[in-house]
Amino acid sequence: MPSTALDSARWRTAWDEVMTGFVPGLETLEAAIGTAAESVLGRPPARILDLGGGPGVITERMAGRWPGAQVTLIDIDPVLLAMARDGVPPSVTVLDADLSEPGWTSTAGGAHDLITAIMTVHYLRPERVRSLYRRCHQAMSPGGLLIIADLMPDDGLPTVTSALNPAPGEAAAELAWTQWWGEAAEAFAHLMPARTEVFRHRAPANFAGTVSWHLAATRTAGFREAGLLWRHGRHAALLALA
Ligand SMILES: C[S@@+](CC[C@H](N)C(=O)[O-])C[C@H]1O[C@@H](n2cnc3c(N)ncnc32)[C@H](O)[C@@H]1O
Repeated sequence: MPSTALDSARWRTAWDEVMTGFVPGLETLEAAIGTAAESVLGRPPARILDLGGGPGVITERMAGRWPGAQVTLIDIDPVLLAMARDGVPPSVTVLDADLSEPGWTSTAGGAHDLITAIMTVHYLRPERVRSLYRRCHQAMSPGGLLIIADLMPDDGLPTVTSALNPAPGEAAAELAWTQWWGEAAEAFAHLMPARTEVFRHRAPANFAGTVSWHLAATRTAGFREAGLLWRHGRHAALLALA
């Protein structure tokens, strides 16, 4: 694990390892996003918005795949925003905004043809996720696509927070997450009071809507079509077309 606040490359690499432990098949998810975007749009995306992009590791890979694209990352965590600002290439704009409030749409602007939310929506209460999808629809260009990847139980399973309890193979990922944050809290001690303040009154990050819950929410939000793009164990990604 990196030990200084300045070494954002190493922090971000360690984050990537932790996220790969959490989301088995992350590489195949990113490949599915890339292929879906190119095939739906019939060209590389021109304006990409990554919601809850954290330190920007996946955002940076999207910017690398589509070098001509204008890419924007939104997050609210001061520690992760600091890592993102230090680490992403100049083609990526990093914005500090709250996805549970309406203001992010005016900050980010509109006409995005690809919006992604990877392991982000479980941080929001269900009613906020519904509003988020409505705002995503407003922030898209016609024909654009929204991709939501998160813990999404099959519809045969109940929508309960116990669906988020780690399966045996995920215990190591939980431990790596705790360790990563323990070390980050020391190295970024100057940002921790602000981080504590940001998350003080937020819901615990444990919303796990089923696939059909998310599909219904995207359709109600105005997306004309939505379906399952990818699944790996308890993780799934949905594709919604504006
Ligand atoms: C598990 S991380 C995933 C980060 C990134 N998408 C990835 O896969 O590496 C979830 C992210 O959502 C962000 N987030 C949670 N609630 C948010 C909110 N209300 N507004 C903006 N970002 C939020 C967190 O700060 C965190 O960076």
